[in-house]
Amino acid sequence: MYRSLLFVPGDSEKKIAKSETVPADLIIFDLEDAVAADARPEARLRVRDYLKARHDRSAALYVRINPLDTEDAPKDLDIVMEGAPDGIVLPKAHAPADVRTLEKLLDAAEKKHGVTKGATRILPVATETPAALFTLGEYRHAATRLAGLTWGAEDLAAAVGAMSKAGDNNEWSDPFALARSLCLFAASAAGVQAIDTLYADFRDAAGLAASAARARRDGFTGKLAIHPGQVETINAAFTPSAEEIDEARAIIELFAANPQAGALSHKGRMVDMPHLVQARKILALAEKSGGGR
Ligand code: COA
Ligand code: MG
Repeated sequence: MYRSLLFVPGDSEKKIAKSETVPADLIIFDLEDAVAADARPEARLRVRDYLKARHDRSAALYVRINPLDTEDAPKDLDIVMEGAPDGIVLPKAHAPADVRTLEKLLDAAEKKHGVTKGATRILPVATETPAALFTLGEYRHAATRLAGLTWGAEDLAAAVGAMSKAGDNNEWSDPFALARSLCLFAASAAGVQAIDTLYADFRDAAGLAASAARARRDGFTGKLAIHPGQVETINAAFTPSAEEIDEARAIIELFAANPQAGALSHKGRMVDMPHLVQARKILALAEKSGGGR
């Protein structure tokens, strides 16, 4: 379970080095939007060399390649797979079929570079095109290498011509809230982690904390980050508090002590199966928080 997933531009030696000091659970070396086309060839080699050196990091190391329908994508894969990253972030996925296409490419790349078959995970950015929204339910049939599902609003907004993505009170406007919710449900249906999109205003710590708290409230278990200063806030938001853990344990013990009961009374309120399921999820989250690789 990855709480914080930090984007690091793959062409920046400085930021790659800096990322070693950041307590992100997962690092995404970017070869796509954060890297200018001219800088890509060098960025690929830089990321590959960094991965090969391994650096004994506890964070999982992923690479965001370019979209599969670009000429960059096969070049990205061919080079970075030499470094055996823990996973690939797939931007602008049109449908789960893209994940299957990437799976086949990874099968071949793993074989070529002596990487264990199936070891490379896939994290799609699943809502970046309007048509992709109508395929989200199918990710449950593409789950072999799936590490989670995440979503993005920027490209979606540009595609539909939205003037703004903001609704009231710093929340998403309806179209983007829908994409966010569908990502959450699709991830849950596929049995993988739902990862909330990034909070772009990286100087707004309170806004980030509120955004991460809403994501946790709704069922997301991690969030993308773009700046080192966001990582601790995100980690804190997705780490169950001591009170939450105590409460979860109490509910599990209550049901264990009353194996015949479907519904029970706990501190003056009714608890039943969904509460037990939720209590187990909180303990799982507590155990896996900061799981790294
Ligand atoms: N990863 C690693 N280090 C980062 C970083 C990142 N994502 N973002 C900033 N840093 C480093 C800076 O190099 C700087 O290092 P220093 O203290 O050694 O000088 C330090 O953290 C503070 O950075 P700051 O000056 O506050 O920000 P900036 O103006 O240098 O950079 C951004 C702002 C947005 C350009 C930068 O955060 C960034 O590149 N983010 C990632 C962008 C990205 O990958 N986007 C793709 C996903 S949408
Ligand atoms: Mg993008």
